[in-house]
Amino acid sequence: MSEERRQVELIREAFEQEFGRFADLSVDGLAMGDAEDLLRDIGELKIRHTGKKSAIAGAMKLIGKVAPEERGNFGQFVQTIEKGIAAKIEDFESSLQSIIATAKIERERLDVTIPGRRPKTGHLHLITILRQKIEDIFVSMGYAIEDDREIETDYYNFDALNIPEGHPARESQDTFYTTEGFALRSQTSTVQIRAMERRGVPIRIIAPGKVFRRDTPDMTHVPMFHQIEGLCVDKGITMAHLKGTVTEWLKQLFGDDTVTRFRPSYFPFTEPSAEFDFSCFKCHGTGVFENERCRPCKGSGWIELGGSGMVHPNVLRACGVDPTVYSGFAFGFGLDRMCALMYSLDDIRLMFDNDVRFLEQFR
Ligand code: DAH
Repeated sequence: MSEERRQVELIREAFEQEFGRFADLSVDGLAMGDAEDLLRDIGELKIRHTGKKSAIAGAMKLIGKVAPEERGNFGQFVQTIEKGIAAKIEDFESSLQSIIATAKIERERLDVTIPGRRPKTGHLHLITILRQKIEDIFVSMGYAIEDDREIETDYYNFDALNIPEGHPARESQDTFYTTEGFALRSQTSTVQIRAMERRGVPIRIIAPGKVFRRDTPDMTHVPMFHQIEGLCVDKGITMAHLKGTVTEWLKQLFGDDTVTRFRPSYFPFTEPSAEFDFSCFKCHGTGVFENERCRPCKGSGWIELGGSGMVHPNVLRACGVDPTVYSGFAFGFGLDRMCALMYSLDDIRLMFDNDVRFLEQFR
């Protein structure tokens, strides 16, 4: 073999050695990232072995140096080697490119049959739902909804409601105090005073809201709960209006066959005072449900709901209203216990644990 041929053979061997790393590789099942790395490596190899400055490009110059009768043969030989190198590189490149292309298609594939992801919609808390139902009923009877502060002075929480310092009613409603001597209201009755001061009389309002008491949490007590207060003051308002109003909203909430019962009681801010009960929504007052003792009313047929009465003259006076001209009724009740009864909850703390698995059941 001529010296020139040997040189070209060496060039091919050098290429084969470097290319060996790729030739031994099985590209099937290569990850897309790895294929891209290899494509970059083979690209560099291609420049070195087929570019203008490559050894084989240099070998072309040898063609002119061989004897004229061998030139044709030699020329063909060099070209064959050159093509062989280029073909090997191109084969490898194209198999990598097809792997990358397939992987890209796979990655971007859309399965239009997969069910869509529904955005999770929230819903109101069960106490809010009940509160809004009751608000709607009162609005339909011409009542305004009064929202007021939860932090109060002793004056609004007690004094103006005819509960002077030292009155035993203060004890049963012991609440939380700030270091500045403000109280978290222990009842929504405070809004009676605020509303009459602001709006004057005649007035018809309900005031829903949070109230606070220093109670240790248990199945039937939490230190923060909800009440709705009602107040109606005008000329000639009597206990009959109170009974009619309370009965009407309970009928609207629980059905036309609901009946109410008023029992004499005592509250400092009403005279006379009464607690009111309504016939059980589950057993309709029979005390028996599906041949067993009815649960919400404990078999009595009645559910105790709240307190009420005719607004005490001292309360009217504290708001600058003349009790010889105006009279009114007021009532108040707790929403949380009512909610617990309606949904058969044994423990009212469940409503405040914020466990969505529980809350989701009440939409
Ligand atoms: N505020 C009372 C309580 O928390 C409930 C109440 C009783 C409200 C009689 C009233 C009322 O307006 O007249 O127990």
